[in-house]
Amino acid sequence: MRATIDLLVSKLDGLLPRHGIVLGSGLGSLVEAVDVVTRIPYSELEAFPVSAVSGHAGELVAGRLNGVPVIMLSGRVHYYEKGDAAAMRRPLEVLHGIGVTHLILTNSAGSLREDMPPGSVMRISDHINFTGRNPLIGEETDARFVGLTNAYDADMAADMERAAMKTGVLLKNGVYMWFSGPSFETPAEIRMARVMGADAVGMSTVPEAILARFLGMKVAAASVITNYAAGMTGNELSHHETKDMAPVGGARLATILKDMIAGEH
Ligand code: HPA
Repeated sequence: MRATIDLLVSKLDGLLPRHGIVLGSGLGSLVEAVDVVTRIPYSELEAFPVSAVSGHAGELVAGRLNGVPVIMLSGRVHYYEKGDAAAMRRPLEVLHGIGVTHLILTNSAGSLREDMPPGSVMRISDHINFTGRNPLIGEETDARFVGLTNAYDADMAADMERAAMKTGVLLKNGVYMWFSGPSFETPAEIRMARVMGADAVGMSTVPEAILARFLGMKVAAASVITNYAAGMTGNELSHHETKDMAPVGGARLATILKDMIAGEH
């Protein structure tokens, strides 16, 4: 890990990103707005696991977004790939190690709300971990007992809301429920999720939010809604739909994040 941090620091050429962004399926377009200082495929970074999920590029991109230093992880590894909830631990440790203090997590998700159609963007105000898995299982220090009362940072949330207002992009907010995947949910599971207080469902982000809080980073998160959840329309769900729809809301989310980064202090 030390070697990966040293390699990155040398490639960053003096750039000091305080903001990290994890880009989910089909949300890689934000990378195009970056004045790139360095971009490195995960396969060349020793501490990074390579995702085999189509639609996840798997590269680290660092540069300036609206003049502000930023480091992006385009593509992530999911729990469902190998059954490892801590799959993103080392990449997040690397970001933390080079000085990232503010982490923005993004994903694609299914909506449980009629007023949040595909193409919507939802700020994650809180989450429900429905998998029973936790990336800190096996961690042996007392640091494992991470408080999640304020998992998603209030100041970052306010910055995101302000950026949405300023750019005129509608930003919903709600609770994200983590299912393990890779199969989609059943209609009965979606009815259950709604009763339990979920607004959106997905297969990522929650373990990363837990790991980031463990490392002491502040976290904000947002979902791009790619579909109504199972049973809401009668259509079958598919990864194709996720990939096709992600860029629609993804462009909206990119607009918000560009402004959010520039406005943060
Ligand atoms: N369920 C789980 N994960 C998802 C969905 C969904 O409906 N849409 C995009 N990711």
